[in-house]
Amino acid sequence: MTPRQRVLSGMRPTGPLHLGHWLGALKNWVDLQERYDCFFMVADWHALMSEYEHPDPIGEWSHQMVMDWIAAGVNPERSVVFRQSDVPEHLELYMVLSILAPLGWVERVPTYKEQLREVKGRDLATYGFLGYPVLQAADILLYKAHVVPVGEDQIPHLELTREIVRRFKFLYHQEIFPEPKPLLTPEAKLLGLDGRKMSKSYDNFIGLSEDPEAIRKKTQKMFTDPKRIKMSDPGHPEECNVCHYWQVFAPDQASRIWEECRTSKRGCTQNKQELAEQILQVTEPFRAQRGKVAEERAEKILAEGAQKARVVARETMREVKQAVGLA
Ligand code: TRP
Repeated sequence: MTPRQRVLSGMRPTGPLHLGHWLGALKNWVDLQERYDCFFMVADWHALMSEYEHPDPIGEWSHQMVMDWIAAGVNPERSVVFRQSDVPEHLELYMVLSILAPLGWVERVPTYKEQLREVKGRDLATYGFLGYPVLQAADILLYKAHVVPVGEDQIPHLELTREIVRRFKFLYHQEIFPEPKPLLTPEAKLLGLDGRKMSKSYDNFIGLSEDPEAIRKKTQKMFTDPKRIKMSDPGHPEECNVCHYWQVFAPDQASRIWEECRTSKRGCTQNKQELAEQILQVTEPFRAQRGKVAEERAEKILAEGAQKARVVARETMREVKQAVGLA
């Protein structure tokens, strides 16, 4: 039997996970456990890079996030669930990679300038933030991951990682690292409640751990078809965020609902009320599981995960130190 390939992925603990994370990434992680040896990482150093000015409880978010992962079906017996800052080798490898990564490559990563421009209310013009994708490369290479499930926005970071692998090989004539491949997470077709990208910073999300009443209220406030003023006006479901949610949460009912909307048989208020109940039904298994995950369990999982991760990380660092002549 050939050994299974390795997967590594991470999320930054900067706030509550929302439906977009669940549908876009987490469900995919759960499935990947069947076919790969998976490492799932709480990227708390990465979180600190953007949150360092605020006394945000990154430690608390880390625990909450692990509890969400477990409730969604991540299995810590099978996958290594760990926190980046518990494995100091991440910073050691990051140091080596930052020494050999040409400045031009790092400065050219498109997400860097984009974030400096787009992210408001945070000063990201720091020395450390430039190194964000280099630390991400270290995360991936430390475990010699073959496959990295990510969203589209992370592709440039994977490309930089692959370039760093080639440069390492060129400089030291050693093939310690496989070139990791991105595995594009099937794009979640779920926009935020206001029709923009679902994001914590826009406050337009439904949190995975929100209670049913809050979910009903938020759904009721969603924007609908702007062209439909009265109920008797025919609707334009293709332009209505609520109707798009139906496609995600009840694909088998969506075409009937779209037709009822087009033919004015279904009003927007009813549409939102019923959607809320549908979202509640689909997310109920998650909520039921989430209620059973105790916070102490998160700590224990992270402690055990750190041990397992460090076994691999230490071995890689031993090889790296040898290759670069430090050993
Ligand atoms: N940058 C990733 C994000 O914001 C999080 C992350 C950190 C990550 N390290 C990683 C993802 C390693 C994949 C692999 O989503």
